[in-house]
Amino acid sequence: MYDFKPAAADPAELYRELIAAADALTAGEPDAVANMANVAALLWEFLPDLNWAGFYRVGPVKDGAKDGAASELVLGPFVGRPACIRIPFGKGVCGAAAESRAAQLVADVHAFPGHIACDAASQSELVVPVLRDGVVIAVIDLDSPRPARFTEADAEGITALAQLLSARI
Ligand code: SME
Repeated sequence: MYDFKPAAADPAELYRELIAAADALTAGEPDAVANMANVAALLWEFLPDLNWAGFYRVGPVKDGAKDGAASELVLGPFVGRPACIRIPFGKGVCGAAAESRAAQLVADVHAFPGHIACDAASQSELVVPVLRDGVVIAVIDLDSPRPARFTEADAEGITALAQLLSARI
């Protein structure tokens, strides 16, 4: 049984514990789906006030290249309500993170142009790209029913998690 108990109140310490748990669960396991599934569960367990936590992976577009795009984001392992399956680069918060290769910290999703509402409960969102050799291979997406739930400390913590996972998903 894996029994990770988030104990820290300080965000930096909470993320150190989360990343240590993610490291322990994914080290030596080559299966990307297993690793993403366990990390989605850890995010859900460690971070309060979430209604969705998980991954979108970069994959080939479903119907062959159109509009010049050969790849798009495809839903990966997550915890939360069923979500939209495919997101083109540049669309919504996830697509913005993938296209810009930069974290998107959104205090009010209703004020974000093109936000894709997968769960009407979502009020704020944090999306961080996972880069391998400078190329985006996935994004980590966190949604909250609380406005302005995420801070720079969350963006830094999830970015460190994304670096750990770069070679493991
Ligand atoms: N809100 C996201 C879509 C994914 S769901 O939140 C799970 C977006 O705007 O990209």
